[in-house]
Amino acid sequence: MARVHTEACSLSTINQNDSIMKSLLYGHDVLSMKELSLAQIQQVLELAATFKSEDVPALLKNKIIAHCFFEPSTRTRLSFETATLRLGGQVIGFSSDESLSIKKGETLQDTIQVLSHYADLIIVRHPKEGAARLAAETSAKPVINAGDGANQHPTQALLDLFTIQECQNKIDGLAIALVGDLKYGRTIHSFAQACTLFDIRLFLVSPDSLTLPDFICDELKRNGVRFSFHQSLEEVVPKVDILYMTRIQQERFNDADYQLIKKRCILTPDLLATAKPNLKILHPLPRVNEIDAEVDKTPHAYYFQQAANGVYVREALLALMLNENVQVLT
Ligand code: CP
Repeated sequence: MARVHTEACSLSTINQNDSIMKSLLYGHDVLSMKELSLAQIQQVLELAATFKSEDVPALLKNKIIAHCFFEPSTRTRLSFETATLRLGGQVIGFSSDESLSIKKGETLQDTIQVLSHYADLIIVRHPKEGAARLAAETSAKPVINAGDGANQHPTQALLDLFTIQECQNKIDGLAIALVGDLKYGRTIHSFAQACTLFDIRLFLVSPDSLTLPDFICDELKRNGVRFSFHQSLEEVVPKVDILYMTRIQQERFNDADYQLIKKRCILTPDLLATAKPNLKILHPLPRVNEIDAEVDKTPHAYYFQQAANGVYVREALLALMLNENVQVLT
């Protein structure tokens, strides 16, 4: 059910004469995909494409970004840091709470309130669902949710959309399989919610115990997204344009279920024999064993390019959140 075509996104917010883009995200928080409009998403993707193709201007000059990571991260933290530095901004923050006064009993809210007087924008990753929203409620400055428990990871969904647009030249009209831990995977939750804004056919591949939460299925239904449930990769590989693999979180469920999903959801090169030529495999990473390393050598593998795109998308997001107007050199 087509709603809006990405090709039409356009550059409606750009004045082609002076190359000024009026930000649709200036001063906003970015806490979940559900709260982003199609126009905001398209503006991020568009600016990210510009940043990928040319030198980035110093749009964060004199800005300080607090990178607050209460949970481990490789890609999200370091790509946000790279993005901040490339845009001329400066970074304060931490990669664990070990050295914080939280260890003395200080609350998250007090910590964030104080940091919001030191920094111009706060990025929060936290193991508890809802932590980024709590931070936003007490922060005097905009907050980005960089992953909160099993809830949301909106900036990952933005870079997933950017990568899909890049490798398929479109988003609307694609068939996409979401594979693995659909119940606890926050990247899946954010991506599935983003699908409500596009014409995407979803194939949900997981054991029954790890299927997509009902409230997200309800959102898909309400928005006319076609989706179906599947138990094995073999069923869906020939039908899809994107295979979005995710890590199985062994710690979340019993051993019998884990053994079952392990067998069904490991992608090996032989499973790709029936794939369409344009199939691309995405994975938010880190992977454990769900994609055989041999798959990396196939033309279908696109997960490392996906991770690289995190820098451009996060550059675009930071630039738009902290600048009312963004001048793009053409
Ligand atoms: N995709 C992702 O969030 O990776 P990190 O946990 O390494 O940040």
